[in-house]
Amino acid sequence: MGNKELELGFQKILDGNNNWVEFVKNDRSGRFEQLAKGQNPEILWIGCADSRVPANEITGTKPGEVFVHRNIANMCVHSDMNMLSVLDYAVNVLKVKHVIVAGHYGCGGVAASLSRNQYGIIDNWLCHIKDVYRLHAKEIDALEGQEAKTNRLVELNVKEQVFNLCTTSIVQNAWKDRDDLAIHGMVIDIATGQLINLDYTFTANDELGDVFAYK
Ligand code: CO
Repeated sequence: MGNKELELGFQKILDGNNNWVEFVKNDRSGRFEQLAKGQNPEILWIGCADSRVPANEITGTKPGEVFVHRNIANMCVHSDMNMLSVLDYAVNVLKVKHVIVAGHYGCGGVAASLSRNQYGIIDNWLCHIKDVYRLHAKEIDALEGQEAKTNRLVELNVKEQVFNLCTTSIVQNAWKDRDDLAIHGMVIDIATGQLINLDYTFTANDELGDVFAYK
């Protein structure tokens, strides 16, 4: 690499991995030998791609404990084959017991969705958040200041994505066979590290009501 700074940035990753290899080598619990054979996580985490919200660090979990899917603004879009594939595999093969949609205050994707700025192809993704805003425009418009508006939409967006997960055929069919699958909505406060439970949890499709619950 001709660019020294670029080279150093990449070297940092390699050095970091060397430290990790050392850590794994010195671990006497047998944990990593076990992990090399397979995974058995109980949690699926759907979070924002933001670099400040790593699932394991925030939840104090270790490799092997959380199956993770992240995208911009932790969206669960019904026709997103990437998300659906992760969800199907997690629920039906890994048999996770908890699915957590984790948003975070100060989310850039949510903030952008409340502006008229264009950012490129991502605008079409952010439109899904604008759809959530449209459902709650009155409440959000009444709030004072852009930060408060963004953070409230972060919470409302998480709830909407939880609901989106619950209405997938994947989750509803899983609920026909099992009563040990819960879908939760949470928000991370990056400044304090706190993972705030929005108390928006579903464990059965009769909690959805009306046209949303499949027979
Ligand atoms: Co974000």
